[in-house]
Amino acid sequence: MTAPVMCVVGARPNFMKIAPILRALAVHQPPIPALLVHTGQHYDKDMSHQLFDDLGLPRPDLNLEVGSGSHAVQTAEVMRRFEPALDEHKPSCVLVVGDVNSTLACTLVAVKKGVPVVHVEAGLRSYDRRMPEEINRVLTDQVADRLYTTERSAAANLQREGIDASRICFVGNVMIDSLIASRDLARSAADTLRGHGADVALLSHAAGYGVVTMHRPSNVDDAHTLGVLLDTLAEVAVQLPLVFAMHPRTRANIERFDLLDRLDPARVVILPPQGYLEMVGLMAGATLVLTDSGGLQEETTALGVPCLTMRENTERPITVEQGTNTMVGRDRGAILHGVAEILAGRGKRGRVPELWDGHAAERIAADLSLWLAAGAP
Ligand code: UD1
Repeated sequence: MTAPVMCVVGARPNFMKIAPILRALAVHQPPIPALLVHTGQHYDKDMSHQLFDDLGLPRPDLNLEVGSGSHAVQTAEVMRRFEPALDEHKPSCVLVVGDVNSTLACTLVAVKKGVPVVHVEAGLRSYDRRMPEEINRVLTDQVADRLYTTERSAAANLQREGIDASRICFVGNVMIDSLIASRDLARSAADTLRGHGADVALLSHAAGYGVVTMHRPSNVDDAHTLGVLLDTLAEVAVQLPLVFAMHPRTRANIERFDLLDRLDPARVVILPPQGYLEMVGLMAGATLVLTDSGGLQEETTALGVPCLTMRENTERPITVEQGTNTMVGRDRGAILHGVAEILAGRGKRGRVPELWDGHAAERIAADLSLWLAAGAP
């Protein structure tokens, strides 16, 4: 029996990346055996279980159940619990995706035990080291053995950091594989709102509706910053009703800082974190998306929906250069201007980037099989 590829997921944005990879490994000829490990970084029904169902992910073979904690505690706990799993299952390699704490933690454990590491979505850089994800990306890429990239700028970033071109393989975007596979199954925005007992009349506004997500510590952990952003969203909502799918971190902070009254419930529908099929449906029907998420910047580009990103920088520059994304930071004026441009019909139309074609995971499986057969690193 060939040793399995140990695939790691931890947090919400990992699930849509791993789903197409597991499928591609299974249908590859010959099939590439895989094991799915869930670190349990995200554990809520809304943040985890629902997405497994929506994406057709199998139940994890192993759940490390680490839960929440400080960065140090969370990372350390994943490492502590992942090591015996690695010893027991003796995989051919460990495959990690994205940039969350679980990505780095499992990478560190594996490389130190001499187990090859494959990183999917390598080389993205915001060049902002205040972002925990940037630290996770830089360190994972330095020590991983095979690096699969989503856009061409990533290889240049990696080579600037001294990584040899022979370790890098441009395969396209697995997140868009999931989007394309799920598009026809997406739940309509009206059904989603109805499911939460919200008034669907909001969706028939002449301007349509906007979708909001926001969870970056830099946007939601400081009372003043969060207050200004909520006030700006309230101004946007006067022209364009909003559906706000709220991350638990954001909800907790809004409650802690007593800011809930900043948003008029008649114009802003607040929903819990949404399932994948709900989120795709909400985005696909939206006039615009306002977000600080990395994944949504890419998904809106693939869907051709204008996106305003409430961050100062992006590690996914192709979404700005070719896609529908515009960086608006946390600046009230820039956000309102961006919204006004879109409502005036001047939103970016964009085009779908190279190799965001629904087949990235197949390319990974094909390359991985050759790489493993050649003895990995
Ligand atoms: C993590 C990722 C981030 C990703 C985001 C998507 C890191 C460093 N960050 O950030 O890149 O964009 O996931 O959601 O890995 N919580 C729950 N239920 C859960 C999980 C978390 O209520 O299932 C709450 C807890 O209060 C927790 C907080 O959310 O303390 C933050 O969770 P954590 O995993 O530390 O980071 P995220 O902000 O979700």
